[in-house]
Amino acid sequence: MAVRSALIHHLMSLTLTIHLLAVSGEFFKPFNVSYDHRALIIDGKRRMLISAGVHYPRATPEMWPGIIEKSKEGGADVIQSYVFWNGHEPTKGQYNFDGRYDLVKFIRLIGSSGLYLHLRIGPYVCAEWNFGGFPLWLRDVPGIEFRTDNAPFKEEMQRFVKKIVDLLRDEKLFCWQGGPVIMLQVENEYGNIESSYGKRGQEYIKWVANMALGLGAEVPWVMCQQKDAPSTIINSCNGYYCDGFKPNSPSKPIFWTENWDGWFTSWGERTPHRPVEDLAFSVARFFQREGSFQNYYMYFGGTNFGRTAGGPFYITSYDYDSPIDEYGLLREPKWGHLKDLHTALKLCEPALVSADSPQYIKLGPKQEAHVYHMNSQTDDPKLSELRSLRNCSAFLANIDEHKAVSVKFNGQTYKLPPWSVSILPDCQNVVFNTAKVAAQTSINVLEFYAPLSANMSLKLHAMDQNELSIIANSWMTVEEPIGIWSDTSFTAKGMLEQLNVTKDRSDYLWYLTRIHVSNDDITFWKESNVSPTVTIDSVRDVFRIFINGKIAGSAIGQWVKVVQPVQFLEGYNDLLLLSETVGLQNSGAFIEKDGAGIRGRIKLTGFKNGDIDLSESLWTYQVGLKGEFLNFYSLEENEKADWTELSVDAIPSTFTWYKGTFTQGYKKYLT
Ligand code: GAL
Repeated sequence: MAVRSALIHHLMSLTLTIHLLAVSGEFFKPFNVSYDHRALIIDGKRRMLISAGVHYPRATPEMWPGIIEKSKEGGADVIQSYVFWNGHEPTKGQYNFDGRYDLVKFIRLIGSSGLYLHLRIGPYVCAEWNFGGFPLWLRDVPGIEFRTDNAPFKEEMQRFVKKIVDLLRDEKLFCWQGGPVIMLQVENEYGNIESSYGKRGQEYIKWVANMALGLGAEVPWVMCQQKDAPSTIINSCNGYYCDGFKPNSPSKPIFWTENWDGWFTSWGERTPHRPVEDLAFSVARFFQREGSFQNYYMYFGGTNFGRTAGGPFYITSYDYDSPIDEYGLLREPKWGHLKDLHTALKLCEPALVSADSPQYIKLGPKQEAHVYHMNSQTDDPKLSELRSLRNCSAFLANIDEHKAVSVKFNGQTYKLPPWSVSILPDCQNVVFNTAKVAAQTSINVLEFYAPLSANMSLKLHAMDQNELSIIANSWMTVEEPIGIWSDTSFTAKGMLEQLNVTKDRSDYLWYLTRIHVSNDDITFWKESNVSPTVTIDSVRDVFRIFINGKIAGSAIGQWVKVVQPVQFLEGYNDLLLLSETVGLQNSGAFIEKDGAGIRGRIKLTGFKNGDIDLSESLWTYQVGLKGEFLNFYSLEENEKADWTELSVDAIPSTFTWYKGTFTQGYKKYLT
């Protein structure tokens, strides 16, 4: 009895200790992180690191533990994420760190699983995220120009970056406090657009570096795709292949912050796939050629919830063909093959970290070996034990895309499949070849099983998760009004820029004006066979024209010209326009200046007495859709709408909300 209660007491105090550790954020014994030309140095030791890109708001907090666990099981040492400014500060000065934006919770979960974190604060992130992560209100700061040597921008950027660094410090999440944060990033691929900003761009990047280093984070900072990164910042590579990348100083290590293991999907386009053989090849080649930190962008891609998708024209799914799919399930054989690769790389880690640089051996015209010899001077007992078993690790690459080749290495013959790397942790035995997939292959069939509610039969079946078809035996519909639907509308002279009006509270902006058409005009059109035409210099992303409540034409694209013949009646006619954004621009220079909706002049051409310029006319504006603002799509408030059952012979209205009900569903890969 006494033993039992002592045991229980011990367990309780253990639980208490673990709990206290988690609350104070101490997941590790505090350690420092620095780097040399070869690698990150974690707690005094060089490390070869595999990192898994996971963006916390692209999953739900309920999914986070599973994703982190699967990343760890797959061989990741590090999780990498951006920080999403517009999610954290949707209104200036009002912060949101709840729910999917509970950054501290996410980091604590990473720490408690024993993984590290590379946090990319940006705050510009690109990431196919609405407006590249910038809050829309930032455009309204007087005198602001984004991402250049501009005082108002620098002030706002510094405030947010400092806010995040202070948060990490206050919550004791840095490694030197026992937390998992080992590395940060500031800006994102600025090098790609720097020349657009001339000298001011160069000044900006110097300021960015000083600002970041001045925040006292005491961990290394990275800038990706930044050839002129100052000496105090590691410049890293992004791309499909980064072997051969050289940082801008021999004293910096070779880091790969984004290995694109798939790609994002645009509306109407094919779902991109990257074969795992090629992905594994790129990773093995990277470590073969002196790389030491590699991150999968994305290891889990997830979902663009709400209106977070950037654009224009990116779909809601951010699955990315990543090793963990949008639903948090393992994508095989991608996940498994990479796990095998990581196991092989880990076996090489002692040699990889010990050698300052590899020995290069040319094995053939397109074949080569890199051999990492163990440094004999080591007082690490683990290393010296390993050295007795093996004293080098080697990578044999065949970069011929078509031919398998036999090569001689270390007195033996090795057959190398085309476009492959063989990994020999002991310089003799091949434990892994990137082109040979041993991991289980699953057939990409998804099945849904849904407990049926009483009045509903539901069957969901799909050959691919992007082609889900939902068949329910009853659907409800409600029409969305065409045009002005509320007293929040207002009238102003001239065409207003869309984002100035909507403030991105909605994708939709209605514009209404009234045109008077005389009997003379009608006769003229009849006799001359000319049509009146709505002509607009430039519009984006989706644009629709209605005459007297009926749709007359649409345009889709990024700043496209509209020339739409229409028909008017004699007397007053409503000319109604609907401009829709489909994800705000998230990449490129000067994104704050791009705006949305209509640019240039809007005219009616083909009238008897010449063109009518409507650019300065009186227009009535209505932000958003009724159903959107009344939350017709939400579980809580959909009952507010006047739903009617959809009948087979119903004539669809121009805009319709559809509601189908199912109680619950889950899916699995069939293997
Ligand atoms: C990179 C960028 C990422 C993401 C990626 C494409 O250039 O840094 O944020 O946009 O492209 O998915």
